[in-house]
Amino acid sequence: MSAHGCPVIIGGGAAGLMAALCLAPRPVVLLCGGTLGFETASGWAQGGVAAAVGPDDDFALHTQDTLSAGAGLCDAAVVRRIIEAGPWAIDFLTRLGADFGRHANGTLALGLEAAHSRRRIVHAKDATGAEVMRVLINAVHAAEHITIREHTQATELAVRDNRVCAVHAATPAGALSIATSCAVIATGGIGGLFAHTTNPLGATGTGLALAARAGADLRDMEFVQFHPTALSCGLDPMPLVSEAVRGEGAVFIDNAGTQFMNGGDLAARDIVARAVAAKYAANDSVFLDARRVLPEKFPGIFATCRAQGIDPATQPVPVRPAAHYHMGGIAVNADCESSVAGLFACGEAAATGLHGANRLASNSLLEAMVTGRIVAQAVSGRTAEATGAPPPTRQASRHAPVVREVCSQSLGIYRNAPELEAAVARLRPLAAQSDGALVALLMAQSALRRRESRGAHTRADFPHTDPAQATSSTINLSGLADTGLNA
Ligand code: SIN
Repeated sequence: MSAHGCPVIIGGGAAGLMAALCLAPRPVVLLCGGTLGFETASGWAQGGVAAAVGPDDDFALHTQDTLSAGAGLCDAAVVRRIIEAGPWAIDFLTRLGADFGRHANGTLALGLEAAHSRRRIVHAKDATGAEVMRVLINAVHAAEHITIREHTQATELAVRDNRVCAVHAATPAGALSIATSCAVIATGGIGGLFAHTTNPLGATGTGLALAARAGADLRDMEFVQFHPTALSCGLDPMPLVSEAVRGEGAVFIDNAGTQFMNGGDLAARDIVARAVAAKYAANDSVFLDARRVLPEKFPGIFATCRAQGIDPATQPVPVRPAAHYHMGGIAVNADCESSVAGLFACGEAAATGLHGANRLASNSLLEAMVTGRIVAQAVSGRTAEATGAPPPTRQASRHAPVVREVCSQSLGIYRNAPELEAAVARLRPLAAQSDGALVALLMAQSALRRRESRGAHTRADFPHTDPAQATSSTINLSGLADTGLNA
């Protein structure tokens, strides 16, 4: 079958796989940078899928918790739409064979995570992402309409009259060009741009750079979520110690063994991350005391800690914040279509309006599932024309190792104008050649422009939330007019 004229999905995490599956029976091409399922953030998710399925829960409560965490920047209609699809997402995965934890009577065992007012985390012990990916990958392998292209890295989106017309990619066998008027970016997040991250190191915002270079708008790029409990053991990336461990009773303690969160151990992630960062800034250390937690509830986490010589059953676990999730991304409308016609985005790569300034834990696997389906529904109604692929104009992105240092120094939990200006100055000369540098530049520029503190974006020089800035930010390459990047 010729790939020309097929929708092309770039990225093999949960969102990309859902988009591909839900497009059935329409032929679709799925591009994965490695082997299918290798090192995706979806597969590493420990917590679970947030869904209002408990007897004491409802959509209004889940919506309210999401809006509160989002600190004024969520799109309420998007929040409701995604949350109301929660039971469908759980049912879809269960039908595919996902083995979620259940009580003896067969009802779902629901976990608790930060800033959720109810137990609503559907999980498979502490390896929910792996279970979700297992069933999605099986389904994709069994689906005849999906052509999987592994080890295929998208390098450029060709655009004619603000409309996608081709996807160019690099493969071990050489360059590949697919003429299509439908492309879907599902490349995940940006944690790999930071020196301390819980994400796979390949999560460097490739899809955001592709979209930006194609002329698309990006939204809320300044909002990076730092997880407060990455295992501090010298590994890169840092293993996560799920918030669900605190949901089962673990608490923060400092060097002196004193609890310092005053009962707020399960406050919203931005609040907890700042508190932990403040301890380190004061030359203290932070540990998670999980000695009351049943090891069998978190076999993966306990095993990872023990492999590093730390036994959570008998000793405090050293933790520190690490870049974990990007609320910002490619600006999309209700169909998950970007400002470039025919260019769609879903999952973490998209800024849908669900998360606002701070994501509620475990809302992201839910978003991946639901936005994958939304993209498929929107694309199903379109023809994907193949009107010829113009030749590529770009070489593959150059690796710029300095980006991790710059992001960690200037785009961490606490930010200020001099640091952000320094970041912009260092990144600007690299951005034409390096996708990571371009994405970091867009983040730094957006962070500089937001002169307030809101959600996960904390400006030491603008510590207050300014009601006049309660709107999402938008940036694109023409907003970087002095970089020489805009064509
Ligand atoms: C966690 O398990 O703590 C992370 C869950 C999430 O990031 O949604």
